[in-house]
Amino acid sequence: MAISLFTSILLFLLQVCFSDDEKKVVKSSYWFFDSAYPLSNIGSTFYTHLLCAQAFVDPNTFQLNISNSKTAQPSYDLSIARGIADDSALSSMASNASTRKTFIDSSITIGRSYNFHGLDLDWEFPSTTTDMTNLGLLFKEWREAVEKESKNSNKPQLLLTAAVYYSSVFCSLSYPAEATENNLDWINVMAFDFGAPTWKPNLTEAPAALYNQFSEVSGDSGISSWIQAGFLARKIVFGLPYYGYAWKLKDANNHGFLAPANGPDITVDGALEFRVVTKKLVQFIAQNITITAFNSMLVSDYCYNGTTWIGYDDVQSIYTKVTYAKGKGSLGYFSWQIDLDYNWTLSKLNRLKLMNLSFSNIFVLVSRFLNSLL
Ligand SMILES: *[C@@H]1O[C@H](CO)[C@@H](O)[C@H](O)[C@H]1NC(C)=O
Ligand SMILES: *[C@@H]1O[C@H](CO)[C@@H](O)[C@H](O)[C@H]1NC(C)=O
Ligand SMILES: *[C@@H]1O[C@H](CO)[C@@H](O)[C@H](O)[C@H]1NC(C)=O
Ligand SMILES: *[C@@H]1O[C@H](CO)[C@@H](O)[C@H](O)[C@H]1NC(C)=O
Ligand SMILES: *[C@@H]1O[C@H](CO)[C@@H](O)[C@H](O)[C@H]1NC(C)=O
Ligand SMILES: *[C@@H]1O[C@H](CO)[C@@H](O)[C@H](O)[C@H]1NC(C)=O
Ligand SMILES: *[C@@H]1O[C@H](CO)[C@@H](O)[C@H](O)[C@H]1NC(C)=O
Repeated sequence: MAISLFTSILLFLLQVCFSDDEKKVVKSSYWFFDSAYPLSNIGSTFYTHLLCAQAFVDPNTFQLNISNSKTAQPSYDLSIARGIADDSALSSMASNASTRKTFIDSSITIGRSYNFHGLDLDWEFPSTTTDMTNLGLLFKEWREAVEKESKNSNKPQLLLTAAVYYSSVFCSLSYPAEATENNLDWINVMAFDFGAPTWKPNLTEAPAALYNQFSEVSGDSGISSWIQAGFLARKIVFGLPYYGYAWKLKDANNHGFLAPANGPDITVDGALEFRVVTKKLVQFIAQNITITAFNSMLVSDYCYNGTTWIGYDDVQSIYTKVTYAKGKGSLGYFSWQIDLDYNWTLSKLNRLKLMNLSFSNIFVLVSRFLNSLL
């Protein structure tokens, strides 16, 4: 079972679109207001949507609350909200029609007042059958409210999206797939955090394998489960991590996947909860004599120096996954999150030049493919 380290963070995201053709292809990333990448630098070439983290549900009033947020007026006339909440506030809010309405109304008011184009719910995770049922009710009522508001305001409907578990089944609880599909514009499938040294200390793992011949947990099995649950592929947006995890190898000479390990390697500079973000990885690889490798069976990159071993998604993994997402007829991809990237390496995929595909080629490819579906 994959367990996300995001569990304790609840993200309520306000979404920014740069594209008029917003539903044709989604290339999005989560983005924090205090990011090192200011909005003015992001631009529509890399992303069609930004999911601006994060607002929260007030556990007492059940209103969306951005009081802790910084707001910005960058070159786009947008303001960004962020905040933190816990899952129990969401569970309580969703359990009662009256508090759902309070939340929904406040989310629309805030979304509109900050000029966002949509709202993204990141509940990690609904953990009872009742939570799952209530999530379906929430989506239905949210959509009804958004439709009504759009009619009254004469503005386009706010987009409604949600970040979901990699699989349509979380700890044997099924997501309300039908209510989700009927009422959301798309889902952001978190196809990552499958293996991390904190809970899989003894063997190195591919943290976000696309395929896995040794385990049922993989991006592909997750996407398949959503499709088997009746979810439309073209409402699926595939998640990509801009980070890896570092293990301490038992034996420096045994350094593949599933190599014996002694838990997390905490010596890697910049490790955050043993996550190694792409920008630190680049430095690690550049400053140490590091061997890098790509495993095409799992679709995962890894690198090592001595007993330090890091599994992550480099350009080749990202490229393969984006190609996979296209092949499945999905709507696009998102990443967690822009700020972890190094000098736009993964955002731009400019190292694809190595594979004789330029950055613009690949996005033209992706856009063409996705556009041709509609
Ligand atoms: C938002 O949170 C702040 C600080 O926790 C609190 O003072 C305020 O009353 C909350 N606002 C709403 C509308 O719940
Ligand atoms: C639902 O919430 C409202 C407002 O907080 C409260 O008055 C009501 O008793 C709640 N209903 C149930 C069934 O908990
Ligand atoms: C890792 O190995 C230790 C020592 O052999 C063992 O006690 C532990 O249960 C193992 N952990 C997992 C998750 O397999
Ligand atoms: C180089 O690797 C060592 C461990 O092998 C680590 O302690 C050090 O932080 C690495 N250097 C960088 C720049 O990441
Ligand atoms: C790891 O990197 C350090 C620093 O560049 C280097 O001295 C060392 O030889 C490397 N270790 C291995 C096993 O390549
Ligand atoms: C970032 O990329 C640009 C252009 O691709 C390059 O000129 C610059 O040196 C890079 N910056 C760093 C810190 O690597
Ligand atoms: C990329 O192009 C070069 C020169 O045209 C060629 O030698 C090389 O094999 C190509 N690489 C790939 C991966 O197709």
